Amino acid sequence: MTKLSSKTITVEIVDGQIRLRHSSNHNKILSVADLVRPDTQPIVKWAGGKQWLACAAPLLAPLGWSQRYFEPFLGGGAFFFSLEPGRATLSDYNQELIATYRAVRDNPLAIIRLLRTYTYDEQFYYAMRARRPRKGATSAARFLYLNRTCWNGLYRTNAQGRFNTPFGKFSNPTICDADRILAASKLLKRVSLRTGDFEQVTVPACPGDFVYFDPPYITGHTNNGFLKYNAQLFSWDDQQRLSKCVGHLVNRGVHVLISNADHPSVLSLFRGMFFYRVSRLSLIGGDTSCRKLISEALLASYPLLGKKSEVL
Ligand SMILES: C[S@@+](CC[C@H](N)C(=O)[O-])C[C@H]1O[C@@H](n2cnc3c(N)ncnc32)[C@H](O)[C@@H]1O
Repeated sequence: MTKLSSKTITVEIVDGQIRLRHSSNHNKILSVADLVRPDTQPIVKWAGGKQWLACAAPLLAPLGWSQRYFEPFLGGGAFFFSLEPGRATLSDYNQELIATYRAVRDNPLAIIRLLRTYTYDEQFYYAMRARRPRKGATSAARFLYLNRTCWNGLYRTNAQGRFNTPFGKFSNPTICDADRILAASKLLKRVSLRTGDFEQVTVPACPGDFVYFDPPYITGHTNNGFLKYNAQLFSWDDQQRLSKCVGHLVNRGVHVLISNADHPSVLSLFRGMFFYRVSRLSLIGGDTSCRKLISEALLASYPLLGKKSEVL
């Protein structure tokens, strides 16, 4: 068994199974609601977000890496915000998301000023949703507002690429978390932000650099080989392309960590990598009284916590 602690989280690996526990309560497997918050936290809610794993990010990073970090499926960037790397290239296919991070990096105070004037109200929501602001800060404030107040924090667009998620029912949602925006802005100053496909943005990665991939979880036999993710389709071909891209990076001496579906079709694509299972309690249909244990795969080019596991 390997055991290491970060803040009040303990990460154990037993027989290739990663367990994240509260050090105050070693018998309890963490659920999202139990999380210890890293110093800097994501500024958007995102489908498939890794907040539940992010508290362990500094422990799951490779030993002696260059402190140059790549995260090509950024979304809410939970892993990045917890890791706080020296330099980073962050990217995603979603242009509005990346434009929002750029504006948060460059102009946080203007965004905060705008958000403070926005109200949680259905009519206001639909009026905001219909707007198409041109200025970076106004556009980012709109994006952050809609993300906080829409149904389930879901980013969904219509055939014309226009955001179309309905109003979400919350009791008193936080529309402007100024501290979080300022902390994110500070961290993003050391970052290059790109829009684009995962393959092209990892080309400049050098030996010793660290790449964390968190793709949409497509498996070989589900969804007719396509997963609709935001406006984007992620296909089984993309998953295969990812495995080739990972192979090239690892051959060049780049450290790679991947979150993925714990499914034989996926695992068969990542031969030669260390494989760990990580379980988490997940809410079912947003119901806090109904939770299920979900298993996901972590695939690494290096032994996590120095603990070798099954090699695929
Ligand atoms: C599972 S989410 C990432 C969640 C993130 N790790 C977090 O903590 O919030 C996957 C992301 O991949 C992006 N994406 C989908 N296809 C892509 C592609 N081909 N290249 C780059 N990003 C892509 C989606 O827009 C989405 O933001």
